Amino acid sequence: MNKANQIYSQALRTALDTIGRNMTTFATMFPDNVTRANIYYPRTRDGFAIGDNFDWTTSFWPGQLWLAYELTDKDDYCLAAKRLLPSFINRIDNQIDIDTHDLGFLYTLSCVTAWQLRGIEPARQAALKAADYLITRCLENVGVIQAWGDLSDPNQRGRTIIDSLLNMPLLYWASEQTGEPHYTAVAHRHTELLRDYLVRDDDTTYHTFYWNPETGEPLFGRTEQGHADDSCWARGQAWGILGFALNYRYTRDHSFLATAQRLADYFLNHLPSDHVTYWDMVFSDGSGEERDSSAAAIAVCGLQELLHWLPAGDVRERYAESAENILQSLAQNYTPTGESNALLLHSVYDKPKMVGVDEGCLWGDYFYLEALMRQTNPEWQLYW
Ligand code: GLY
Repeated sequence: MNKANQIYSQALRTALDTIGRNMTTFATMFPDNVTRANIYYPRTRDGFAIGDNFDWTTSFWPGQLWLAYELTDKDDYCLAAKRLLPSFINRIDNQIDIDTHDLGFLYTLSCVTAWQLRGIEPARQAALKAADYLITRCLENVGVIQAWGDLSDPNQRGRTIIDSLLNMPLLYWASEQTGEPHYTAVAHRHTELLRDYLVRDDDTTYHTFYWNPETGEPLFGRTEQGHADDSCWARGQAWGILGFALNYRYTRDHSFLATAQRLADYFLNHLPSDHVTYWDMVFSDGSGEERDSSAAAIAVCGLQELLHWLPAGDVRERYAESAENILQSLAQNYTPTGESNALLLHSVYDKPKMVGVDEGCLWGDYFYLEALMRQTNPEWQLYW
């Protein structure tokens, strides 16, 4: 076995071991969005039981379990993922904390997976309901899906965010399942508008962008979790690489592939010496700022997605080599060495609000495992 493969095998063994332990610890509860001092605890929020299903990240836990099941063929992981299904079904049936575009993240990794891998019909129905709810967030006069909050909330009305690109695969899947093209049309139009307004001329991205919901007029870009409105929030750029590439997969709109490449080139040209991005790409070595390992893991998946679609040649080779450099650095330098129940450490959730700074996070863990899956099983049928 060559050195790279040894690194990936060891990384997978460690990750699967941690997931196995977390399966026992959490049972039907959900870990919090981020670790505290490198440890996940069950999530809490007023009005909910401890470990309940709320907020945008819960599906990254069953997503890890489904990946573990596919990597090992061990029923325990499948059973653990199945035990979480009733809470996702209940959440959409009873409309609990669903005023968000993140229904895509939530139902792709929990329910589309259960349908795809085990043919579980109630999971398919729940995912279709989530897709139906998601398109009600499309602002008709604009053509974008509003990111956060109730549609009448004046602070959120007309706002999109780059992360939403990852929520579009649920809509493509719904069209494929139902034969109804409307879901795809909404996703395609939303992605076109993000391409035109969230991507800047210098190939960086806005985290969020506002439209006038009545007239459809594009207004202005802002950041929410980045360093400044005009800086390049690293995770947003990574969501853009993977998100535009996935939207290319389902539409074959070549402009989406070209956009993913522009964002990837900027990302790769601004990496520090150990290949793992700082949390905002204005920062570089010597800045004293934190890394965002989750952005790095998402970007690896984006580069791996691009490898599916690009012809052999220098560009493809550069992306393949860069994906491996980042993934190996994550496996060797960003995984726990002390006490922790995370797969990956050193991410930043929201530095401006000082939430989850230099901690593990559920989406970082999920995308790190997806990146390892993609790297070691190139024929893997993705969940998105
Ligand atoms: N989608 C929210 C985040 O990336 O932090």
